[in-house]
Amino acid sequence: MSTELDRIINNLPNLPSMPPVVASALRLIEDPKSNVNQLAQILSKDISLTSQILKMVNSSYYGFPNQITTINKAMALLGLNQVKSLILSVALKPMMLSQSGKSLWEHSVRCAVGCQLIAKAIGKGDTDEAFVVGLLHDMGKNVLEIYNKNLANQIHKQARGGIDRLILEKKHFGFTHADIGAALVRKWKLPRVIEICVQYHHDPLASRDISLVGPVYVANLLTQENFQIFEIDPRVVDNLYFDIPDPHEFREEIIENTKPVIASLK
Ligand SMILES: [Fe+2]
Ligand SMILES: [Fe+2]
Repeated sequence: MSTELDRIINNLPNLPSMPPVVASALRLIEDPKSNVNQLAQILSKDISLTSQILKMVNSSYYGFPNQITTINKAMALLGLNQVKSLILSVALKPMMLSQSGKSLWEHSVRCAVGCQLIAKAIGKGDTDEAFVVGLLHDMGKNVLEIYNKNLANQIHKQARGGIDRLILEKKHFGFTHADIGAALVRKWKLPRVIEICVQYHHDPLASRDISLVGPVYVANLLTQENFQIFEIDPRVVDNLYFDIPDPHEFREEIIENTKPVIASLK
């Protein structure tokens, strides 16, 4: 299945390409021999990316008391992991801007914030990575739109009317937005953890590591427009050792925390 999906992704015209500066920055971050100066040099070549990263760092979401004006300062304060998640969040934003409206973008940012809150609460894994995973989890929805806009729109309408989206996608496309999203992650050679979370965000029990996929699964459901408590599988919450005493209250907290992020990424 994955080879077939990789073939589709590789032959899809109009698919946005991974910005080269992001690819080089990520390569550098993964390279133990690299240093922050090299990264700053690469980033400073892309003024728009740098200014967007600084705008996000200076938003109230990060809560720094003083304004951070250079990428070097940002890196010194945040560290490489957080800078990596900022680069991905800012650079891959176009991929989350669905052609059919802003709702996918808002849902994605809310899911990112929710995912990070859950990862912080359970104290496992990299919370910055959790943010990125939450942001990118539905990137396959946009790929489906690029692949066949009419069909994707029809499915979107029917799903809003209450029919199971994944069943519709499987029936009409032969694969889901999770499957094709994971193929795009592979094509772009993004970290494997992102691929796993994109692939299993609707079915975390099928993944090997629930502490990785669980937060994005829960955050995704909590940030649905028509959130229903019963949709959250209690086995996942139990496996995460995460307690949500009042899901509606937690959802409100996520929405509130999302506001400065959305404003800074505008
Ligand atoms: Fe999804
Ligand atoms: Fe989603």
